[in-house]
Amino acid sequence: MRFDQDFIEKVRESNNLIDIISRYTQLKGAGNRHTGLCPFPNHNEKTPSFSVSEGQQLYHCFGCKKSGNIFHFVQEMQGLSFVESVEYLAQKASIPMPVQEEQSPQLTKYKNSLNSSWKLIERSADYYFQNLQKLPESHPAKQYCRKRNLTDEVINEFKIGFAHDQWDGLLNFLNKIKAPQSVGQNLGLLKKRKSGDGLYDQYRNRLMFPIITQTEKYVGFGGRVLDDSLPKYINSAESSVFKKSQIFYGLNQSAKYIRTKGYAIVVEGYMDFLALYAKGVRNVVATLGTALTPQHAKLIGRYTSKLIILFDGDKAGQAAAQKSLKVLLEAQLLPRSVILPDNMDPDDFIAQKGADEFQRVIAASEDLFLIVMQDKLKNFKGAATEKVAVMEELAPLMRSVKHLGLKELYLRELSDRLQVTEDWLLKMINASGKNEKPSLQEPKNTDVTDKPVVKRKLLSLAKAPKHELYLINMALKSTEYFDKIIEQGVIEQISDQNLLEVFKRAEQVYRQSPEEFDKLTALLVTQIDQPTYLSAHLAEPLSTMDNAGSLRLIDDCVKKIRKQSLKAQTLQLLKELKQDSSKKEKLEQIMNIQKGKLNL
Ligand code: CTP
Ligand code: MN
Repeated sequence: MRFDQDFIEKVRESNNLIDIISRYTQLKGAGNRHTGLCPFPNHNEKTPSFSVSEGQQLYHCFGCKKSGNIFHFVQEMQGLSFVESVEYLAQKASIPMPVQEEQSPQLTKYKNSLNSSWKLIERSADYYFQNLQKLPESHPAKQYCRKRNLTDEVINEFKIGFAHDQWDGLLNFLNKIKAPQSVGQNLGLLKKRKSGDGLYDQYRNRLMFPIITQTEKYVGFGGRVLDDSLPKYINSAESSVFKKSQIFYGLNQSAKYIRTKGYAIVVEGYMDFLALYAKGVRNVVATLGTALTPQHAKLIGRYTSKLIILFDGDKAGQAAAQKSLKVLLEAQLLPRSVILPDNMDPDDFIAQKGADEFQRVIAASEDLFLIVMQDKLKNFKGAATEKVAVMEELAPLMRSVKHLGLKELYLRELSDRLQVTEDWLLKMINASGKNEKPSLQEPKNTDVTDKPVVKRKLLSLAKAPKHELYLINMALKSTEYFDKIIEQGVIEQISDQNLLEVFKRAEQVYRQSPEEFDKLTALLVTQIDQPTYLSAHLAEPLSTMDNAGSLRLIDDCVKKIRKQSLKAQTLQLLKELKQDSSKKEKLEQIMNIQKGKLNL
């Protein structure tokens, strides 16, 4: 998908960077200088070096040097591609997506059907949510929420709702809002009656957990009974919008915490997720009760490579953890894990032992590979046949370690434990691989929540010379300086072709609407590869340079550009002269004569 610049601008102008950033860090101040602690991971700072300009809609961190506009921020924090960041912000501002010119009718139809599915699920989620809100405290659903420690904050944040114990609650609601019943039926929310026609509600007398993607699309539900009856959970049916193997519950809210913490805790269920979240452990995601798939790995890999897998302590949970390990290693992620005592799941654990104890357990996590290895070595006594048997089990795992550094460390660990050489291990690992089925390939990407990233053509300023970058930064610093630079007529002489293009665009926008000067940098940084190239004027030393110093710098840059341009012109002329053969001969004759003179 390609958006035109007007659409991108509209989306940018309809969102305020201050609001978006305030979800991640507390900002103080006003106008062009809001400051706060840097929200980006790996920059755990105690004194604020992060600053945001409301007028210019740009952020900059003096510590970790990250900077950019609202799209950069959303991409970096939410782990989205550029296209997704535009979609995400358009949705936040209720701006409808443009229809692509070259879009085929089938694609338009498909997109419309996705849209109406998302909408219908979102409206249904609202309906269920309102149901729960309206219940008296004494109602079993309310009491169940209290029993499971679902706080009001969590209920609101995750739009948890209730499906009444009736056959036509949702059905009537969807009729009332004139939503197409067929869509509800395709999504498995409505079912066809066995006798005669007509539809009925799939979910009755259940607590409802809407499943929302990281770009805030409503794709399905999990519904839990309020007692011990079966089935405990009913999940949405697989459909074009709901694909269990590609969804993490909670990621829409927890992405920001995963980014700021720098790692993610992966659990198996809604309740595990919500219990941790309610107790303040927020860098969490949950699978919908399955082992991790390659698509899961790819999705979480956008946010962090460091994972702590916290599956149930029972046999099934541990089997799922082991199964996940191979997938995670293949995706070059770095999984750790810890087995919770007494078959507890994370929800039981944090309810019984509290958040502090939970954090201690997390801190004591080990590489999941070593846990699995330990498990295989449980009854190991050191016999040669045992060594071979263990390696037959571990060889496929070793082969999936794609991270070279990690592979070497695991080899060393294994050779220590088994008392064998690394050469022997490698022989075992390679030998057993010969008749192995090729490893599971990632299926073709049909995921609606994980669109292929369309690379935009960004202008790279990586090769631009320093003095040229200084000049454009001075131009962007104030209108006075920009005017001055235009007056000098030096822009055409910029040597870096990409920078020249950026400069020309800047000049054009500036001439057309000088009153929009404040927004110029934010506009330009969407078009280049690294925002820092154009936001250097927001940082020291340029930001604090006085007027005299600034004018001197501009002057120096202009001179240098002129000089280099003359030099380039001369070189070019010489080159042309050399290529012109008749002149070349004459030139050589002259040179020979000169040589002859010297030899006389
Ligand atoms: N699950 C499911 N269908 C079931 C049981 C489980 O889809 N019949 C999925 C759900 O996504 C659930 C996850 O598997 O969240 C984990 O299941 P389980 O460990 O049994 O549930 P808990 O999350 O522990 O739920 P609870 O604490 O409410 O029993
Ligand atoms: Mn549980």
